[in-house]
Amino acid sequence: MAIVTDYLKNEETYPLFLDGDSLDILKSFPDESVDCCITSPPYWGKRQYENGGIGLEKKYTEYIDNLLAIISEVRRVLKPSGAFWLNIGDSYKNKNLLGIPWRVALRMMDDGWHLRNDVIWYKHKGGLSPSKDRFGSVYEDFFFFVKSDKYYFDADAIRTKPREAKVQNGAVVSATGVSGIRYKRQIELSTDLNENEKENAMNALNAVLERISNGEISDFRMVIRNVQRTTHSDSEKVSGRAKELKEKGFYFLFYNPKGTMPSDVWDIIPEDSQKRSEHYAPYPEELCVYPIKATCPPDGVVLDPFSGTGTTAKVAYDLGRKSIGIDMSKVYNELALNRICRK
Ligand SMILES: C[S@@+](CC[C@H](N)C(=O)[O-])C[C@H]1O[C@@H](n2cnc3c(N)ncnc32)[C@H](O)[C@@H]1O
Repeated sequence: MAIVTDYLKNEETYPLFLDGDSLDILKSFPDESVDCCITSPPYWGKRQYENGGIGLEKKYTEYIDNLLAIISEVRRVLKPSGAFWLNIGDSYKNKNLLGIPWRVALRMMDDGWHLRNDVIWYKHKGGLSPSKDRFGSVYEDFFFFVKSDKYYFDADAIRTKPREAKVQNGAVVSATGVSGIRYKRQIELSTDLNENEKENAMNALNAVLERISNGEISDFRMVIRNVQRTTHSDSEKVSGRAKELKEKGFYFLFYNPKGTMPSDVWDIIPEDSQKRSEHYAPYPEELCVYPIKATCPPDGVVLDPFSGTGTTAKVAYDLGRKSIGIDMSKVYNELALNRICRK
């Protein structure tokens, strides 16, 4: 399809939307041509979209086969450094939660994908369960797969910026309120450290506090033998920290000065609570922000093979990336275009 190869070549970041069945359309893409894919396919047996599409199969096994056929095309068109983010919900049948997200994920792993995270999208809603005999469900899986073990990931683009250390009553206080006074007392009062170890620990602590006040590091924790609880294995054979603790009597943990990495639970309110009723089952824009920043290089291309109202493409455009959306529905593709034009 010349339109795809032309789009991939040009500099324009305005998204390309293609009407049709993803399986057919993806076949016309060159191999290894996109950097990142983010998508949310229709869930099995949940709702009917315009023009049919996947999700309407009689058996969930057929749905999984059809979805995996599209995913294997995604794998072909993804660069070796590429990432694939799959948001997928589960379904019940005969009082059984089917485990569809994990059935899909396990098949993908068998096909060679590396699963890096099962991000839990915590949706807040769902407290009032429609069912009287089970709990309300408030999360969905958002799987983070990569094509190979050498993949693009810009961790610094998504770190949450640390707060600054400050000086309080003449003492340096780290971003999370650690001043060193408590550690100093713990060293002095320790019955486990010998005098030499106490002196070394005190000197090392003073040096760390100096680095905090110079702004070289923003935060730290000190672990002193038999005072702090350790989270590593106590066996010196397996843990370098356990060895340090045994030999020196203390060690430090330093926070990354560029900030901490977000966890794998993302607290994001669903889009339908955000009053965009004209759009059908869109996921919230926020869900695409970390994936694009971390796994699509600034000059890269994002793909969404079930693009619906174009949320992925909109966020890609806002973040300066090119993107291609595919949907069976012309109506959704038009909505997606209008949504981005309105900007
Ligand atoms: C859950 S919605 C995607 C919502 C989207 N994330 C958004 O922000 O609006 C799933 C979409 O997949 C489309 N679809 C279903 N089967 C398809 C197929 N085989 N090829 C292309 N699109 C398909 C539907 O038309 C629907 O718009």
